Amino acid sequence: MKKIVIALDGYSSCGKSTTAKLVAAELGYAYIDTGAMYRAVTLYFLEHHVSLTNPKEIKQALDNIEIEFHYNPKSNRNELYLNGLNVEDEIRKMYISDMVSEVSVIPEVRRAMVAQQQKMGRKRGVVMDGRDIGTAVFPDAEVKIFMTADVETRTKRRQDELLAKKQLVNFNEIRENLLKRDLIDSTRTESPLRQAEDAHLLDTSHMTIDEQVEFVIERATAKL
Ligand code: C5P
Repeated sequence: MKKIVIALDGYSSCGKSTTAKLVAAELGYAYIDTGAMYRAVTLYFLEHHVSLTNPKEIKQALDNIEIEFHYNPKSNRNELYLNGLNVEDEIRKMYISDMVSEVSVIPEVRRAMVAQQQKMGRKRGVVMDGRDIGTAVFPDAEVKIFMTADVETRTKRRQDELLAKKQLVNFNEIRENLLKRDLIDSTRTESPLRQAEDAHLLDTSHMTIDEQVEFVIERATAKL
């Protein structure tokens, strides 16, 4: 059967990764969480005190970063390895969320990540979620979805996610972080977050996960 690329872009915490994971499982496709890659770069930059304004340091750091996804049967998900170390839990912490958008605006960082993402999806048969998949990484994706939800819903979902990992974070702190990231992500010069012209808009504010998955699967099946 023909294999396609499904691009899920949109604002922070509107259900992209949950939807993407389930869609990938249903189609037997690989799921690639590109936000995790930018989070891993952020972790490396913080650990190695890389100056965000020093191109030489940035280039050197990027040359030393190796990102891989490995499937963990226990958690039933792909987990991110940074230079051979599983950092899946670390990259979801609030101090990374606080910095990640500032790292993601750096053109050299984007170029390196986009090249790797294109390589990962070159055989197609992938569901990729992020901010610029349908516009920059795979502008030729057969299915493009642009997800959004109202900020209160997104904050609550994020808080629940963090709580499940025993991280207690104040509602307002999460809300501010989401709004800050949305602003930086959608106003940066290099591949800003925006809806591709041929993307389907999906507002998940009042939708269940099953309904979101169905929305994407319907559009994917039409292309198979
Ligand atoms: O998807 P997630 O919320 O984990 O992404 C974290 C951050 O990574 C985003 O706020 C954005 O700054 C950056 N990102 C990006 N391009 C992508 C995916 C994520 O700039 N394709």
